Amino acid sequence: MKEKSRRYFIKTYGCAMNVSDAAKLAAVLRSAGYSEADSEQQADMILVVTCVVRQHAEDRAAGYITSLKGLKEKNPNIIIGVCGCIVTEPGRDVKKQFPHVDLFIPPNSPEKLKDLLQPSPPISPSPRGRGGLVTIAHGCDNYCSYCVVPYVRGREFSRPLDEVLAEIKGLIEQGVTDITLLGQNVNSYKPGLANLLMKIKQLVIRNSSFVIRFLTSHPRDMSDEIIEAVAELPFVAKEFLLPLQSGDNEILKRMNRGYTLEHFLGRVEKIRALMPQARITSDILVGFPGETEQQFQNTLKAVKQIKFDEVHMFAYSSRPMTAAAKLSDQLPDEVKQERLQRLISVVRGIVKDNPLTKNITSL
Ligand code: 5AD
Ligand code: SF4
Repeated sequence: MKEKSRRYFIKTYGCAMNVSDAAKLAAVLRSAGYSEADSEQQADMILVVTCVVRQHAEDRAAGYITSLKGLKEKNPNIIIGVCGCIVTEPGRDVKKQFPHVDLFIPPNSPEKLKDLLQPSPPISPSPRGRGGLVTIAHGCDNYCSYCVVPYVRGREFSRPLDEVLAEIKGLIEQGVTDITLLGQNVNSYKPGLANLLMKIKQLVIRNSSFVIRFLTSHPRDMSDEIIEAVAELPFVAKEFLLPLQSGDNEILKRMNRGYTLEHFLGRVEKIRALMPQARITSDILVGFPGETEQQFQNTLKAVKQIKFDEVHMFAYSSRPMTAAAKLSDQLPDEVKQERLQRLISVVRGIVKDNPLTKNITSL
């Protein structure tokens, strides 16, 4: 009699890197004979891909993991795995906090899951469900003073050009027509992002509807060369995720962002000069420690001036280990929330001004 196939359920929180990690974990499970379940209740293996970039994201993931306790009690054979940034978060004892969890898998480590599965056939991550995501660089070395990513995802590492090109070639051969290159800062990809885009040109079949995108771009490293390559190559989407974070130079300095508002405006100007149709989106963080009303006003002014196509807006959330968490002038929650609401209405106003723009907010 044919054995009933084991089933998996994956819950994913956070960024595109996590979506990519979840797809890789799913590929490992599929090659070990698992199929996807429609819900937690029907699964033999539940994986939670977690995010800790803000307290709110962390609380949601931790709440979900805790909520799985009942299922585990009812059926102790269920395997529960926690993956992603909560596993490597400094100062957290995940084994103690979640005693009902069987596996802990750090970010970007699908091979750890493979090692844990018995027997373990070779993994052949099929593009099915991968959504054409290709990570070109792992980790981050920027140490923006508010950000926990360098501590949970480790040092920046650029994958070799040949390896990335081979992966893209494989996806194209399998009929994937929309590929997103991922990295915390794709603009500092060591072999050069412009160079990589130029090399991809040789893989693209002319007249095909193939599109390549990339994110995230650090404004400091957004070189003329990259902007010109995007403008020149027809298969590269004219899209830029360029997080401004703040429109005030003093705050940008204290965030350790490495650019000024003037530099940022210059980059936007260059992009729009070469590609008037370019879609420029951004992340803005309000309520950084010590941010004054005037400094916040500078952010509102910059947002009105730039007119992004979409803005992801966040209230500052203190994260362990980060330099900003140690600053004494943390703002009260009410102030941060009130500024966030004002920013949201300004961004909405811009939508009204320009019906072509779509602004998305996240709290
Ligand atoms: N608090 C609030 N927002 C944050 N981000 C990163 N760290 C924090 C934090 N500590 C935001 C930044 C980043 C986006 C992915 O998340 O705007 O660009
Ligand atoms: Fe965090 Fe800055 Fe790295 Fe982005 S560039 S992941 S905000 S440290």
